[in-house]
Amino acid sequence: MGKNARVDHSIIYADFNAGRTAQQLSAATGYTIPSIQRIIRQQRVKQTTDTVIPFPDETARKAIEILSAPTEAEDIEAVLEKHALEDIRLLDSHVKQLQAAGKAWHILVIADHHIPDHEERAFRLHVQIAAKLKPALIVHLGDAFGFDMLSRFPPHDRKGRGDVFQPVHQYWNPITRSLAIAAPQSMQMLMGGNHEAWFERFTDEHPEVGGSLELDYANLVRQNGRVKWLNRLQEYTLPNLILQHGTRTNVHAAKAALEDIGGYMTQGQGHVHRVTKWVKVARTNQHRRIVISVSVPCSCKIPPSYTSRHFKDTPNWVNGCAVFTIMPGGDEVFENEYIYHQRADGQLATVFGAEMLTSEPPDIRYDRSKLKTRAA
Ligand SMILES: [Fe+2]
Ligand SMILES: [Fe+2]
Repeated sequence: MGKNARVDHSIIYADFNAGRTAQQLSAATGYTIPSIQRIIRQQRVKQTTDTVIPFPDETARKAIEILSAPTEAEDIEAVLEKHALEDIRLLDSHVKQLQAAGKAWHILVIADHHIPDHEERAFRLHVQIAAKLKPALIVHLGDAFGFDMLSRFPPHDRKGRGDVFQPVHQYWNPITRSLAIAAPQSMQMLMGGNHEAWFERFTDEHPEVGGSLELDYANLVRQNGRVKWLNRLQEYTLPNLILQHGTRTNVHAAKAALEDIGGYMTQGQGHVHRVTKWVKVARTNQHRRIVISVSVPCSCKIPPSYTSRHFKDTPNWVNGCAVFTIMPGGDEVFENEYIYHQRADGQLATVFGAEMLTSEPPDIRYDRSKLKTRAA
């Protein structure tokens, strides 16, 4: 081949791959040996990149698709909102199914745990009531976590100290798990209170880590879906019933809260840590409908460590829970609260139905006579 002839470089590369030397190709094409070597290098790169390498299997294809897809974590706020909306949708459809079944059903409401200042004896009673009542819904009514290290109230022992997630990590799992075991058919839900709002304020003030912290918090509290979570919402509305953490704190909290919502439907709030109740009769053409407003007793230590310097607030606090019963059709809502009394032996006790329940831990002593003795 003459020196000036146009040579297809891919043929040179193919011949090189077939075993021809650069010298032979130089003689055949009229190119210098360095030129042949350059052509071979260029062709090697070109042909490698042009070749479509088949994926070994579908799994690898899927893995690479995920790798190149934009991640939903790009906007953390949107992810959090999506989680909360999904959970609200699940709650709503759960309630709809219960209504459609045409039977009465119960909601167990537990308020103001203030973890890690939660009262363990109260939780032993909560769990027993859950096991007997088999509520279809268990509502954690806000202030589940104290977050007192983020408080702006006057200084106390824990302010600014310790990891805010440590108590959540430590106690939330056993609390929600024990309730789930006691009442396996029930759905659990957590709404925020003013203490959770301290955490939200912190994340708002620290945008450099805020979104990621909120995402971690959401994952901690949702417990792999065991707990439905409302993000920053502090209330959930059911047919003829509003459950809210609440803001009213005076001695007439229940009456004030009912006026706040217009006085036409039953409501339960937490926040005051003591029971106040207001009952209103709404008259219609057909019948007298009872509308109840109640502030639910708390589930925290009395006093919790963070109020040790504000003890004046706590003498009226009581431990307990509330049960709302939705009658078929959903028009009529019953409410009963259970006050946990302190007995002389230090245990808490309440009457549920005809039964006295106490907060004694289960007897874990074993029968020593059954122990094998060591051979002499
Ligand atoms: Fe509270
Ligand atoms: Fe509160």
